[in-house]
Amino acid sequence: MSAIDLENQEKFQQLQKVIDEWKDKEGPLMPVLHSAQEIFGCLSLDVQKYISKEMDIPVSDIYGVATFYSQFTLKPKGKYRVGVCMGTACYVKGSQAILDELKKVLDLKEGETSEDGLFTLDATRCLGACGLAPIMMINDDVYGRLKPEDIKGIIDKYRDK
Ligand code: FES
Repeated sequence: MSAIDLENQEKFQQLQKVIDEWKDKEGPLMPVLHSAQEIFGCLSLDVQKYISKEMDIPVSDIYGVATFYSQFTLKPKGKYRVGVCMGTACYVKGSQAILDELKKVLDLKEGETSEDGLFTLDATRCLGACGLAPIMMINDDVYGRLKPEDIKGIIDKYRDK
């Protein structure tokens, strides 16, 4: 068995434990989906089918919940998650121009992930660092007082890592 298969098998075992724990409780689907997303990073169709079978819930119901709530994602996120704050302080200081520049440099729309799996672009709510507006985060790194012309250089650093 390849390392990837083995890793996947372990993840499904972890998911099975969560399902066993919640199966007979009330309203089990949300906590199971949350855990599944934590374990797998997203709710792929395979994961949805597995939950459907084990919990005896139609896949269409699971898909409905997974697509309705924005905290769930059906596709894996990129290695680097780029979040531009669109809270009021950042917006007033020009975060829309930062987001537009990121869309251009990354060739992505909000919510999309690049084909090489490196970047996911998101607009976020206030990230709690309004004094540095406008800001963006790339994973845990914070970039403040940004100007559109800073963006390309910052992104290139991550591309070259
Ligand atoms: S509004 Fe952007 S960090 Fe608060």
